[in-house]
Amino acid sequence: MDLWTIFHKALARRFMDFIFAEGIAGAVFARREFEFDEILSSLSRSHGYALKDAKRQRMLGVVLDFLIECEYLRAHRGRYITSGDCPRPAAPEPARLPGGLQSEYDFFDRCIGHAGAYLRGGRPLYDFSGGSVPVWDEFLGNPEFEYARAELIKRLSEGNPAINMALVLCYGPGYDIYHLQRYSEDIRITAVDYNGVFYETAMAKLLRPASVDWIHSDKWDGFGSPLPIGDGYFDAVIFACADPYVPDSTRRFVYEDIFRVLKRRGSLGIITRGYPDAQCAAERRYRISALCHDFAESVCDGWQGFYPTSDTRALLEGIGFDIKAVALNECLWRVDKP
Ligand SMILES: C[S@@+](CC[C@H](N)C(=O)[O-])C[C@H]1O[C@@H](n2cnc3c(N)ncnc32)[C@H](O)[C@@H]1O
Repeated sequence: MDLWTIFHKALARRFMDFIFAEGIAGAVFARREFEFDEILSSLSRSHGYALKDAKRQRMLGVVLDFLIECEYLRAHRGRYITSGDCPRPAAPEPARLPGGLQSEYDFFDRCIGHAGAYLRGGRPLYDFSGGSVPVWDEFLGNPEFEYARAELIKRLSEGNPAINMALVLCYGPGYDIYHLQRYSEDIRITAVDYNGVFYETAMAKLLRPASVDWIHSDKWDGFGSPLPIGDGYFDAVIFACADPYVPDSTRRFVYEDIFRVLKRRGSLGIITRGYPDAQCAAERRYRISALCHDFAESVCDGWQGFYPTSDTRALLEGIGFDIKAVALNECLWRVDKP
């Protein structure tokens, strides 16, 4: 079994164990057929879940989609159909994963461990304040995301004249900047985030700190506000692991603004996952993993969820981007401004 398969399986087992241990499976499999609202009311009553809140409601939708993807449940004309009683799978062994995969697993494990309290109205487990920086630093440096970043930059440079000016949008702990600096010694990078808590952690990773222009967080209010940058400025924009923090209501604006700051023939590189829908072309284990990831990170402040690839495609094409590549099981996007 390859590393990723081991990882995906361990994560899916952890999520399934939560669904049974929390008693959600009990409520689902006690029914032969049900509607979404029915299971929401039942779990609000029996578990005290705060399901008037759209984000927590959405988490239950992810649970049901996960059970469908695992073939425990079927959806038909707006109703969910079970095959009756469903035996609880064996509890997962404590995961011992090779290398940095353990830190990725541990992050999701802690998030899933907090999900019951969060569903009952508890506070988010992590946010983007200073106290959470070490957690984000450890999680975001995992080998899966690092591989995706290296691959993204390779894809962005394919057939592109040299990338001289790049924007790292939401630089976080600095991995995206580091990868761009590894790609080229001459690259000039502008880095922006909506608060300054990651600055020192990001700085500590840089190969050439002097070649980065930092936009101070008091100049940008985050998603929904315009980037403080002129039109047609960058050859490339990197936007990694942040799209699921963009609210649906501002998503079009965010990508229009990226389009605006790109030069003609400039490229946007996105790392995310596609929420599995009927058109999802990702392998099944990636679809399952996307649902585990989506559910787990929902306990983090500001998480909106993965958007279906078909929605992202329609949005980006509607703005005028030319979709050059959607790769790595719909995790990696290269889209160009014609
Ligand atoms: C999961 S981190 C990804 C960071 C980095 N791109 C990486 O891949 O390591 C999400 C990023 O989104 C930023 N973010 C979260 N909510 C935001 C908001 N409302 N507006 C702007 N940025 C936000 C965070 O500050 C953080 O840098």
